[in-house]
Amino acid sequence: MPDPLVPARLAFAADGTPFSEAYGDLYHSAEGGSAQARHVFLQGNGLPQRWRGRRCFTILETGFGFGLSFLTTWQAWREDPARCARLHFVSIEKHPFQDSDLAFLFKKYPHLESESTRLAARWPMLVPGMHRIEFDRGNVVLTLFFGDLAEGLPQLRFAADAIFLDGFAPAKNPAMWEPRVLRHLARLAAPGATLATWSVAAPVRAALEGAGFSVEKDKGFGTKREMLRGNLISRKKTNPEKNPLRSVIVIGAGIAGAAVCERLAARGWGVTLLERQSAPPAGPGRHAGVFHPVVTRDDSLFARLTRASFLHLLNHGKNLENLEWERCGVLQLARDGEEQAAQRAAIDALALPPGYAQYVTRKAAAAHAGVPVAADGIWFPSGGWIRPLSLVAAQLASAAGRLEARFGCEVSRIARESAGWTAYDHAGRTLAQAPVMVLANAAEALTLAPSRCVRIRRVRGQVSFLPAGKFTAPRVVVLRGGFVLPAHRGESIAGASYDFDDDDAAARADSHAGNLERLERILPGTGARFDPAALEGLVGFRAVAPDRLPLIGALADDGAATPRNPQPATLPRLEGLYGAFAYGSRGLLWAGLGAELLASMLEGEPLPVEGRLADAIDPGRFLLRSVRRATSAPA
Ligand SMILES: Cc1cc2nc3c(=O)[nH]c(=O)nc-3n(C[C@H](O)[C@H](O)[C@H](O)COP(=O)(O)OP(=O)(O)OC[C@H]3O[C@@H](n4cnc5c(N)ncnc54)[C@H](O)[C@@H]3O)c2cc1C
Ligand SMILES: C[S@@+](CC[C@H](N)C(=O)[O-])C[C@H]1O[C@@H](n2cnc3c(N)ncnc32)[C@H](O)[C@@H]1O
Repeated sequence: MPDPLVPARLAFAADGTPFSEAYGDLYHSAEGGSAQARHVFLQGNGLPQRWRGRRCFTILETGFGFGLSFLTTWQAWREDPARCARLHFVSIEKHPFQDSDLAFLFKKYPHLESESTRLAARWPMLVPGMHRIEFDRGNVVLTLFFGDLAEGLPQLRFAADAIFLDGFAPAKNPAMWEPRVLRHLARLAAPGATLATWSVAAPVRAALEGAGFSVEKDKGFGTKREMLRGNLISRKKTNPEKNPLRSVIVIGAGIAGAAVCERLAARGWGVTLLERQSAPPAGPGRHAGVFHPVVTRDDSLFARLTRASFLHLLNHGKNLENLEWERCGVLQLARDGEEQAAQRAAIDALALPPGYAQYVTRKAAAAHAGVPVAADGIWFPSGGWIRPLSLVAAQLASAAGRLEARFGCEVSRIARESAGWTAYDHAGRTLAQAPVMVLANAAEALTLAPSRCVRIRRVRGQVSFLPAGKFTAPRVVVLRGGFVLPAHRGESIAGASYDFDDDDAAARADSHAGNLERLERILPGTGARFDPAALEGLVGFRAVAPDRLPLIGALADDGAATPRNPQPATLPRLEGLYGAFAYGSRGLLWAGLGAELLASMLEGEPLPVEGRLADAIDPGRFLLRSVRRATSAPA
């Protein structure tokens, strides 16, 4: 069972310095938190000098607290005309502050007002896992892991140039300084990495030396006589830049491809988008889909992945112009007594903030919906609906300066050649060439890059448009084995059918009838008001992997020899060929975070998701499973 997240309790020492009653220690030196951060963490790591001339510089911190070191670092970066282009700050915090406490604390540091106001405005919901927030047009990226250091460090995937060790005093907070925890720092340190901490305790020095760092004492801050600086002892001297040409072909202009274009263009990549449809979306479209996370009692991988994606969409969606969406709230009604019990147990166990998810009785659910509903359920106040075509258009518009979007271009074959990857049309003509290619063409991705280990199925789905005057539509999205949306522009939408082995692209009365049955199970007495033969609808196709998770990342080379005991990092890959597809029934939720993950991989930046989540959606997982099955099978 996962531990619920316990927020920090705001308290102060007699002199006004923020103080933790739980740990019996101050959050920073009584002689000034910012000055301490500049002396110990910045100077101690040779900053700002070391980030100068770098494209990207990455800092890892243990113990985010209320972010004073982050804010001070960000301020120093802003003040430095020779700063690196992009600053990544990755930090782990077990007890984050509530936003109201954070706002109160920030008032005490007026010299950081510009930075702290921005941080407060983007402060994530207090739910476990990884959160990514971008500032200063995406050039300062904060990645926060909310949870225990011992759980979080193994989940990080990146190479840190500098490390700020900032737990409470080792005697009061030993979990932050344990040798088995600090050992992870060497794995996370880039060649040439440094570290600094205010603690010179002998066990800390020993743990860091044991982890592969050389450490030395230096002059401490304020009344503290000494502090510690360290260097990674490593034979590797450089960390070569990944994909320095920053040029990519993206195949497919659905929400997956558009999101990849947007995230890579934001990082300065030149993007060629190839789409077989003849034109980009001409408007927001009639169809709308739902976004909401999933909650499970064991906080499964699936629940964590949907949570990370949901929070990413809420955050990133605010940056996109002309997006047609409404965060009206989503009610997920229980299908039966068993599901009702599971929902209640999950909400009780996880102690999630009410702004994220709450258990509601049927009566309370009806009050949210504004109409009678069929059952108790979970209420996601920040969930809602979104028009996919508006999402595609908004992302392509955002990428415009660096994007060459070519419609009416069907890719028939791809090949790896000396210049990288080439896309060909049916006549064998070259459509485009680039060192990197991303397949974002849903179920057809594997027709271009066949795999013997996995098959992606196409699953037909039909939605029904319900004229608003014929029933009272709910005020919020309501789900129960199907969905019904609030009325918008004169109609509501109900759906959706889930039809295997069905290629019919036309809307049909039998699928409408199925949608009306779903509607009846959500809002009793409503389904019968509509004649399935008279409804209009729309058909689409989902691309579904056997485990119903997407494929995001470097494609595996399942024709090549695999190492003995393969791991995701040692699998053979098709160099330069990546995928972002098989989004199943959750593309609206997954595509944005999927694209951020892919862009982070391509740039060699910190991954925005826990390592276990990246592994769960790694396209190589099917090859890995097939090799493991083969080696474990009796001879
Ligand atoms: C009825 C229905 C309801 C849904 N409801 C929801 C919902 O409520 N919430 C949610 O999150 N998700 C929902 N989904 C799922 C969601 O729509 C999908 O996950 C999402 O659209 C997938 O986007 P994509 O970009 O991966 O694929 P697609 O939208 O299929 O885009 C792939 C693109 O690639 C292009 N292409 C293919 N092959 C080639 C080629 N060889 N050359 C050039 N271009 C090519 C295609 O023309 C297409 O434009 C629903 C799906 C359906 C069908
Ligand atoms: C000295 S404070 C950090 C101050 C912070 N760097 C700042 O600039 O505001 C130490 C932090 O470590 C956190 N912490 C304590 N034990 C932890 C653990 N096991 N895992 C993760 N964080 C922990 C505390 O909640 C506290 O916020």
